[in-house]
Amino acid sequence: MDRFFNLKSYNSFGLNVVASHFASLESVEALKALMDEAVFKENKRLVLGGGSNILFLDDFFEGLVIHYSKSGWEVLEEDENEVLICAHAGTDWSNFVDDMVEKGFYGLENLSLIPGNVGAAPMQNIGAYGVELKDCFVQLEALDFQTGKQVTFDRPTCDFGYRSSFFKQGGKGRYLVLSVQFRLKKQGNLNMAYGNISDYLNEQGLENPSLKDLSEAIKSIRRSKLPDPKEIGNSGSFFKNPLMHQLVFEQLQMEFPEIPAFPATNNTVKIPAAWLIDRAGWKGYRKGDAGVHKNQALVLVNYGKASGRELFALAMQIQLDVNKKFGVFLEPEVNIV
Ligand code: EPU
Repeated sequence: MDRFFNLKSYNSFGLNVVASHFASLESVEALKALMDEAVFKENKRLVLGGGSNILFLDDFFEGLVIHYSKSGWEVLEEDENEVLICAHAGTDWSNFVDDMVEKGFYGLENLSLIPGNVGAAPMQNIGAYGVELKDCFVQLEALDFQTGKQVTFDRPTCDFGYRSSFFKQGGKGRYLVLSVQFRLKKQGNLNMAYGNISDYLNEQGLENPSLKDLSEAIKSIRRSKLPDPKEIGNSGSFFKNPLMHQLVFEQLQMEFPEIPAFPATNNTVKIPAAWLIDRAGWKGYRKGDAGVHKNQALVLVNYGKASGRELFALAMQIQLDVNKKFGVFLEPEVNIV
């Protein structure tokens, strides 16, 4: 147990936040032992994975931050077509995907290079380039902080949605994810439908790309658009892409004919928040050390010494401005603490 622990390397915005109590643990037994301690019972608690989707408002967190660090993965079952993998929550997501690609297991390649840990991935049902975690997800094992018991959640009980799950809604704060199981394929179809992926591969002269080629292409596309949190503090997309009814969209389209939209379920469409923010003039904006990334308007960045409050104030200014200009409400994707 650490007292007054600096979380700078535990949040990808790189904010200097001090937690009054911090515990990094590597086993379920250690977690259960912690649950018997006064520090657990008496404090506000926060489970922190890779810290890549969190914005701390204040520079002091009065409470217990719990980091579960058990990493690694294993094959649970396999036949000639499929493999069932169990990955521990503390495994770095990007390394895990690289391992799966290296082994020739299909399913997670479009999620290459997403920062964060395996345990945090189901919380917001991470997604990129036409694939979401839920597509390969089988079940997860979690520790229930209320009962001290281990519980299994299958796909329906996780209630996955777009960048959302039960763990961001009704189950918020109650569970710590211990491990996640995925079913991957030994032969597969590559998903190259999103945006310019197939054009990009063609330009590279890769007409019949391999699993590894696709993973590398996704990494290059990400690197060209998204800032590396090791170099510039950020937490990926700050807002969700708003969903709206087709009819509301058509109204908006009359005023802004070039507005892009992607069909979603139940007569709704998804609009890129990046387009709205970009079009409202915020791309590349900077005030002090808080800014909007120059290549991707949906990414807020900390150039060094921005505070959580400054980044939040910027996010709120953007939210208000987009609402004023387009009548669209942008909901943060990042967890604000
Ligand atoms: N666009 C702009 N200006 C910009 C950037 C994008 O106008 O500065 C417009 C373009 O029309 C572009 C469209 O927005 O075609 C979509 O942009 P992009 O493909 O970069 O994706 P996104 O909608 O901004 C989403 C996810 C990303 C994910 C990418 C690729 C959300 C909130 N974000 O971004 O996820 O990597 O698609 O699949 O759904 C994350 O969640 O942290 C994240 C980075």
